[in-house]
Amino acid sequence: MNILILGSGGREHALTWKLAQSKKVKGIFIGPGNAGTSDLGTNLKLDPRDFQEVKKAVLENEIDIVIVGPEAPLVYGIHDFFLNDSTLKNIPVIGPDKSAARLEGSKDFAKAFLTRHKIPTAAYRSFDKSSLKGAPGFLKTLNPPYVIKADGLAAGKGVLIIDDIYEAEREIEAILSGKFGSAGQKVVIEQFLKGIELSVFIITDGISYKLLPEAKDYKRIGEGDTGLNTGGMGAVSPVPFADHIFMEKVKSRIIDPTMKGLSDDGIVYKGFIFFGLINVEGNPYVIEYNARLGDPESEVIIPRIKSDLFELIEGVANGNLAERVIETDGRFVTTVMLVSGGYPGDYEKGKPIQGLDLTKESVVFHAGTKIAEDKVVTSGGRVLAVSSWGTTMKEALEISYRNAGLLSFDGIYYRTDIGFDL
Ligand code: AMP
Ligand code: GLY
Repeated sequence: MNILILGSGGREHALTWKLAQSKKVKGIFIGPGNAGTSDLGTNLKLDPRDFQEVKKAVLENEIDIVIVGPEAPLVYGIHDFFLNDSTLKNIPVIGPDKSAARLEGSKDFAKAFLTRHKIPTAAYRSFDKSSLKGAPGFLKTLNPPYVIKADGLAAGKGVLIIDDIYEAEREIEAILSGKFGSAGQKVVIEQFLKGIELSVFIITDGISYKLLPEAKDYKRIGEGDTGLNTGGMGAVSPVPFADHIFMEKVKSRIIDPTMKGLSDDGIVYKGFIFFGLINVEGNPYVIEYNARLGDPESEVIIPRIKSDLFELIEGVANGNLAERVIETDGRFVTTVMLVSGGYPGDYEKGKPIQGLDLTKESVVFHAGTKIAEDKVVTSGGRVLAVSSWGTTMKEALEISYRNAGLLSFDGIYYRTDIGFDL
């Protein structure tokens, strides 16, 4: 089998690392990939959002299965593009079609889905320019802080949490006036939920599903969860508070009704579902759905899958996932993200990375790297994810931090408190 993995981050490097271990996988191509993936497979110069470029790569390299890492190609309809193309229609795409990817692509769609199927989530209402007059009245029914979300994809920047009701009203107007571009044609206003978040993942062929390991990520740039939001500064798996009782609630109140809801709505979902959950006094609520795996969650959950991940991918492709098994590693895996100085604001790229040959106890997944003049250099805000196993979370973190200390590049920064709240 030849597989193509679309994307260029730590998630895609982790997928490549795992699938390269499968006996069933012959050729691994990554589009566009990074310096890390080029050690394990063949990087292809392409933009995953340019479907003609993807098509060319698939035909030239005789690809049998395409695995989509990031959300944008899914939300823009890459799966539908394959189904509607006579030369591609028999090549399975692991990732939902456009209609199913609305779970991530439209927060208004996701909230309506959750409400319609009675899945626990924060109270909400959606507004557009024509219904804006109703927003102040709805805000008054909520307790601060107010959660204001642009409906569409906004590269992780579309959620505002605001204490002052008048500022909330102004921000709603600003979003509807184009602050986040076309992502803000609608605004979702939600009740704020207080609790601790976690990320739960399944893979589904549209009929049955397999639960993957869960994780907790650390989104803020600063120690103690302070400062600006990032793509994620580290992650741990398993999540200690996600015990048997809690996970049974997640299955019966959230995953099973989501599967039934999709089926009732006539949506065939093939791929990963990422449930962004919050634990409110022992009860799980859905904050968001994503149509893909998380990053940096992938850098801890994929190393915890002991069995062949390709078996599950093939199960989705063939529609017989129910016959497949997943075995997980009981140990803890932690990851610490090394980022460029200045991230998530402006930062410089092209800094040579030292120490990659020294980190023997960890697996270092590349998030934003490339090869320039035979050297590995930084090429993004998030640069490297240092993942390690341990019999305790503390042990795994000690190994991640010891190995993070062996790596360097100009301006390197990382949080030293991953797992601090668990
Ligand atoms: P989202 O993009 O919907 O995941 O929102 C980004 C982040 O905003 C989440 O990870 C939460 O930390 C926070 N958030 C979103 N919605 C809520 C809510 N209803 N209550 C509390 N926090 C929220
Ligand atoms: N780590 C959160 C995400 O991938 O969206």
